[in-house]
Amino acid sequence: MNTKRKVVLVGTGFVGMSMAYSLLNQGGVDELVLVDIDKEKTIGEEMDLSHGLPYAPHKMEIKAGDYKDCKNANIVVITAGVTQKPGQSRLELQKTNAKIVKDITKNIMENGFNGIFIVASNPVDLMTYVVSETSGMPRTKVIGTGTVLDTARLRYLIAEYLEVSSKNVHAYILGEHGDSSLVPWEHCYVGCKKLMDVMKDNNHPMEDLKKIHDGVWQAAYEIIEKKKATYYGIGMALNRLVKAVLNDENAILTVSAYLEHQYEQDGIYIGVPAIINKNGVKELLELKLNKEDQEKFNYSCEIMKSNIKEHIKSILEE
Ligand code: 2OP
Repeated sequence: MNTKRKVVLVGTGFVGMSMAYSLLNQGGVDELVLVDIDKEKTIGEEMDLSHGLPYAPHKMEIKAGDYKDCKNANIVVITAGVTQKPGQSRLELQKTNAKIVKDITKNIMENGFNGIFIVASNPVDLMTYVVSETSGMPRTKVIGTGTVLDTARLRYLIAEYLEVSSKNVHAYILGEHGDSSLVPWEHCYVGCKKLMDVMKDNNHPMEDLKKIHDGVWQAAYEIIEKKKATYYGIGMALNRLVKAVLNDENAILTVSAYLEHQYEQDGIYIGVPAIINKNGVKELLELKLNKEDQEKFNYSCEIMKSNIKEHIKSILEE
């Protein structure tokens, strides 16, 4: 039985390594194993990261490894796959990444993994479904980063707009990690005051909320246009999720979780607030959506369902 807190990262590109770097800086992981198809790169990453250890707050064993390391890992994080080019949507990556993620998952399972999967490869809601179907793990042990990053973007933008700390903004993005996401504004709070009341009491135009949401879903396009890729934000989001699991936090995060009749939906992974602990998803926090938000949520779910039917199913059956 492994008593160390062990994380295996599959995919040592910018996203994976941003998570690795933030774990090194924040501590909380005893052993981090890097796995990638490009073995030379992995060794280089191991060396580079390890050279920061003398200045890190805690010790951490870092090594370039392989799938055998998954056996006694608490968490396997999957970030492998192709990423968006300028102007490309996440959904356009699905066929290529579904094949990659399916193969990776098989390798992980063949090596006796029995921990928690955290998936970040895009389109993340569909890739989480691929990991779940391929691994046969209980659905609650397979989590996608979902809208954890979108929610961080939302909190940051609301905080900037209202000039309050983003830590005191309690607002969630639901639905696809992508263009059809939504914000249930009625359920957003600043401290313990409803965001809608804060807007009214300060004479802020309600249309500004739409601009804030546009800023969230367009963020990745804008960043990719300017610097070709996004990685620090998602690296921090992954770090947050890893910690929630390893520390058995019961933290509420908007992960991509499997719906079984919650939110009037079934059979897909999509971004919803969930309580996360050492067992993965403990339970979903079900919000009562108004009619308009429920329709938007349904639309987002339909996108997932039609893509599973048209593209993902056949790849899973190959
Ligand atoms: C992001 O939202 C591209 O999914 C990535 O930053």
